[in-house]
Amino acid sequence: MAITYIDCKDSQIKKIFKLDTPKSSYCIGIVDEEGIVGHLYYGEHINDINISALTPFTEAPFVPSKNNRDRGSIVDSIPVEYPTQGLGDYREICLGVESLKGYNAVGLTFASFDIVEGKNEIPGLPATFADKTEADTLILHCEDKVLGLKVDLIYTAFKKLDVITRSVRIINESEESIYLTRVLSACLDMKDRDFETVTLHGSWARERRIESQKLTHNSMIFGSKRGESSHQDNPFLMIKTASAFDEYGEVYGMNFVYSGNFMASAAKDQFDNVRVTMGIHPENFKWKLDKGEVFNAPEVVMVYSGEGTGHMTRTFHDLYRQNLIRSPYKNMPRPVLINNWEATYFDFDTDKLVSIAREASKCGIEMLVMDDGWFGNRFDDNRALGDWKVNEEKLKGGLKYLVDEVNKLGLKFGIWFEPEMISPDSDLYREHPDWAIAIPGRVPVRSRNQYVLDMSRPEVVEYTYKQVVDILQSANIEYVKWDMNRQLTDLGSYYLDSERMGELSHRYVLGVYSLQERLLQDFPNLLLENCSGGGGRFDPGMLYYSPQIWCSDDTDAIERLSIQEGTSLVYPLSSMGAHVSDCPNHIVGRNTPFETRGNVALFGTFGYELDVTRISEEDRNLIPSQVETYHKYNELVRSGDYYRIASLRENGHFDCFGVVSKDKGEALYIFVRGMAKANSRTDFIRLKGLQADKIYTVEGFEEKYTGDILSKVGIPVALRNGDFVSKLIHVIEA
Ligand code: DGJ
Repeated sequence: MAITYIDCKDSQIKKIFKLDTPKSSYCIGIVDEEGIVGHLYYGEHINDINISALTPFTEAPFVPSKNNRDRGSIVDSIPVEYPTQGLGDYREICLGVESLKGYNAVGLTFASFDIVEGKNEIPGLPATFADKTEADTLILHCEDKVLGLKVDLIYTAFKKLDVITRSVRIINESEESIYLTRVLSACLDMKDRDFETVTLHGSWARERRIESQKLTHNSMIFGSKRGESSHQDNPFLMIKTASAFDEYGEVYGMNFVYSGNFMASAAKDQFDNVRVTMGIHPENFKWKLDKGEVFNAPEVVMVYSGEGTGHMTRTFHDLYRQNLIRSPYKNMPRPVLINNWEATYFDFDTDKLVSIAREASKCGIEMLVMDDGWFGNRFDDNRALGDWKVNEEKLKGGLKYLVDEVNKLGLKFGIWFEPEMISPDSDLYREHPDWAIAIPGRVPVRSRNQYVLDMSRPEVVEYTYKQVVDILQSANIEYVKWDMNRQLTDLGSYYLDSERMGELSHRYVLGVYSLQERLLQDFPNLLLENCSGGGGRFDPGMLYYSPQIWCSDDTDAIERLSIQEGTSLVYPLSSMGAHVSDCPNHIVGRNTPFETRGNVALFGTFGYELDVTRISEEDRNLIPSQVETYHKYNELVRSGDYYRIASLRENGHFDCFGVVSKDKGEALYIFVRGMAKANSRTDFIRLKGLQADKIYTVEGFEEKYTGDILSKVGIPVALRNGDFVSKLIHVIEA
């Protein structure tokens, strides 16, 4: 069992629950007869369970049931598992309520517990999964007797990965309704160890840039109130000791398995205790829980690494590849696709697409994806979202004809949708203006000239599903790119009652999840790629439904180095949509060698985003060998362990990272140099992740070397002159 329970009757801590992963332990203590659920320890694995004497609860005044005098000050500083509102804990809290009479105090005490094998699903929500050989789950049943509220704190400890997941279930067992005004999913209280925070910040076309700062007494709070997890802030927070680096130091990573509004916080309190929290953003959240109803909060994944960020990253990658992504494609090479967005934008017809497919098939490309602009009156991005009927002016002969022609050329066919949206200039809006998210009497804010459909409304979800399914059933469509190009404003629903209006943002996300779940159940072999104006919804929630997510609209290979670096800190390479595009790049105007564009995209899902009929012959001639290289290395890239060696973002000179097979028998690294410099140095790259006593061949080198030499001495990288040149370094056991 990964979970141990001990009864320690004679101490102040009455019960201890110890959760063990291979290299980490997490301990919870039930304090006093009163049953406060305290946090005892999270960090490197400990063997002994008897830690009660070492806990932070030994300070004299803290015997709440016996010494009420100093209760207020103590409640504000002790480490707890799930802090609540209104009873003296003035740090960030997780649970907030409003009773029908307007009171907001809530306090939890332990009632009972269950330890079960494996892991249960969270109804309606994405979550990691595990069978009984992989994990055990602890459920702490807590209660607020005054409110009649039951709160289950749910923890799963993974047996082969250093992962602990947390979620919360709230049940209203009172006679009257109550409003939940804040339900976060996890809290982590610790003593300070000179911690720093690391987050993934960005914007459209520059998503997930790594940012770090010192943890201070000023609350560091970030999140999204945009209705999606967002380009701006990813639902990931890492706390690390200041001395932690890739391969050493202590690191705590937290990632929220949710695709809507979220909030994460970290701060030191007056006694330098650190509190970290994560969950649904409390702004725009007010959930009415009627008698007998249950509210499930989404899951937070926590990874502890005592071996630096590298181990944390590899743990997240393994977890998501094995225990989150469900698609049959997760362990398969994805078809090399060509997408027509940057090739044509809205200006295409059947002939154009077939000509792209014809040329693509000669190059070995395996799938054509028809992007935005194939439906309704969609000649630009100002109209027609919601009118999911094929535009036969563009697609003469219809969709089936086009798909058949593409299939005849030996290519699969994929299609783009933006199912959650409605254009004010659309037949759908003219018929159902009340289906858009809007506040009566207020003209909704337009973004990309579109509104958002009210996914809290069952008939909207039903209608949308039918539109998508009708198209999918009309031809041999094997892939869907599910886009979402604007964020939520004007939070009003014509469907929800005033007392439930605060539920709109979360219900919206639940509606989207239910749509994608149905799609996957009905089309189990469909390859789904999520997308949101590039990478605005790159989160673990989406990975539960799609094995890959479009990483960014910025397809410039050099910009992509930073974007893919930040993304791969948490998310596996197999999930990162990465394509080779034309130059000058459409977003930044940069010219990069075609070879480098291919090499960078190789460390994602790989594909093309260009007009293959119009690029230079020299570039086109490189495609067949790039496709071949993709096939040669994809299994390694998809399933290997990720190692970061250098970051162009940090050193301004070169970028280098790689993947090593689980058996350490093969590795592939990429080296990309920045701007050319006159008379510059030869770079020596110390290859990470190899096995010291194995003998390896490095492509391009005659001699064989031990892993020890390759990782400690390194290899020289010689490159031709020029800006942004790159090289793949393939290492294989001799
Ligand atoms: C945003 C996506 O990220 C692009 O790839 C493209 O699909 C456009 N939307 C289409 O509107």
